[in-house]
Amino acid sequence: MIKINIKDRNGNNHEIDADTDYTLMEVLRDKGFDIEASCGGCCACATCHVYLCDNWLSKIKPIDDDEEAMLDQAFNVKKNSRLSCQIELSDELDGLNIEIAQE
Ligand code: FES
Repeated sequence: MIKINIKDRNGNNHEIDADTDYTLMEVLRDKGFDIEASCGGCCACATCHVYLCDNWLSKIKPIDDDEEAMLDQAFNVKKNSRLSCQIELSDELDGLNIEIAQE
């Protein structure tokens, strides 16, 4: 289990426990956060868009071409944008700090 800090779309902060057998999107969805993830994690919808806060962007697997192409079609994209379905949780991500992007 790892801890993840999440700012939701209303600006409220949450700390949750997350199992590292899942992707970040799966954890957000299963914990009831407002994230559509309409493609189910196939990198085909960009409705699982999050921002990685602090220095976490540099600590996760780099973005690949498919994710970058999908983010190009998303709204409110920032330098620290990622698709949460492409982030596989691991012990190294304990303390991860993210914000759920506006739709
Ligand atoms: S769930 Fe569709 S791109 Fe992540």
